[in-house]
Amino acid sequence: MNILRRGRLGNSIKEDVARYTTSLSFDKEIFEADILCDIAHVIMLYEQGIIKKEDAKKIITGLKEIYKKGMENLNLDPSLDDIHMVIESELIKKLGEEIAGRMHTGRSRNDEVATDLRLALREKVLTIAKSLIDMLKDILNLAEEHKETLTIGYTHLQHAQPTTFAHHLLSYVSAIERDILRLLDAYKRINISPLGCGAMATTGFKIDRERTKDLLGFDALIENSMDGVSARDFILEVMADLSILGTNLSKICEELVLFSTYEFGTIEIANEFCSTSSIMPQKKNPDVAEIARAKLSTLNGNLITALTILKALPNTYNRDLQEISPHLWDSVYTTIDTIKMIDGMLKTIKVNEERMRELANANYSTATELADTLVRETGIPFRTAHGIVGEVVRRSIEEKKDMIEVIYDVLEKYNLKVDEEKIRKALDPYENVKMRDVVGGPAPKEVEKRIKAFKERLDRYEKEVDEKLQKINKIKETLLNYEI
Ligand code: ARG
Repeated sequence: MNILRRGRLGNSIKEDVARYTTSLSFDKEIFEADILCDIAHVIMLYEQGIIKKEDAKKIITGLKEIYKKGMENLNLDPSLDDIHMVIESELIKKLGEEIAGRMHTGRSRNDEVATDLRLALREKVLTIAKSLIDMLKDILNLAEEHKETLTIGYTHLQHAQPTTFAHHLLSYVSAIERDILRLLDAYKRINISPLGCGAMATTGFKIDRERTKDLLGFDALIENSMDGVSARDFILEVMADLSILGTNLSKICEELVLFSTYEFGTIEIANEFCSTSSIMPQKKNPDVAEIARAKLSTLNGNLITALTILKALPNTYNRDLQEISPHLWDSVYTTIDTIKMIDGMLKTIKVNEERMRELANANYSTATELADTLVRETGIPFRTAHGIVGEVVRRSIEEKKDMIEVIYDVLEKYNLKVDEEKIRKALDPYENVKMRDVVGGPAPKEVEKRIKAFKERLDRYEKEVDEKLQKINKIKETLLNYEI
């Protein structure tokens, strides 16, 4: 007899309908959370005098056994809808309905699943934050080695100004630091308890919501019970944060692909992260970066799916909500796997310093500094200097010369005199970089300061994440060993 359907629906079951509607395939993500949620609820029911001590004891023992058995060893009958009913029916098999049938007192699957999702997701968000912190530490170590590695920076993907490879790497760290902060901020809105909201209107049993909140390690309650069971904005927020993170990661992948081409040739990706061609024996293709770039696109699709499922849903719980879950977990795992790949590629990258220096020296990259020097040395307005240097570049291109070979001619035309040493410095890419020691600039000593500051902040984030994870582990340990 199906414990869920036997009453109202007279045990009517259609196999294909059950298979179509069940969430069991992705409920594995909330199996542990559901056991924790059950235990916390039962402890509270007993403490409030709603169920007897003996019954609570047996239910908790039964739940611990089910947890140890593992979800894969339970009877995953799709006509039970989901993991909540699978666990309850397993418990009834063990203890009989007279006892196990009391677990669901004063609760609904609606507040239950909302609680489970928050429990499972908070841990995943911390895992992602932690792997991002690890990756950024690796990038900072790489940057440390390349503070003096001169290279070219681009705007419009055209040579712009000289910089260093370390400065370029810090742009990744700078962006992804915000991704970490976004996730840690979202955590505040994930870690609130909907347990006790019931189906939508709480319950007439004198339950203690504060108690289950504390037992499960939530920071606060989501008070309104209708909002409690229907809110999924915490999921949207995480998925949006992952989409934005994916955009930043995708940019790194794109640059790995681009800079490892023969044309750029500034980096080489390690063989482990490349493939070859079945026909062209010379090929070394950046497949991992390409796959990552493509996989990250699915985060956007998943976000749109979730937004669309939620848009214009009426209050409160609707079964549609269930169909967000597989997309959420897909985004979570895609992110976790991709971070690992990108971290691996960056850690093993070969940097072609010679090629980088060559590009930094080529193609008039120091023209801005030349104009700035004219301003400083002659007092002319920047706009005027910009025009004069533009003319220097145009003549250099036309006459196939370096800027140094035409600059004095042009200066004479405009009746300007500049010390030769100053001109030489302006045209030296390394001097350009050294001079740009404004906050956030590429000067090696400024980059050194930024690396130190990033490291300090990352240590702080790591401490915050570790403290949260420790608290979560403590909660699990306590609940899974709870004795009434
Ligand atoms: N499997 C469901 C979900 O993921 C659990 C809640 C079911 N609630 C209900 N009223 N059918 O949303």
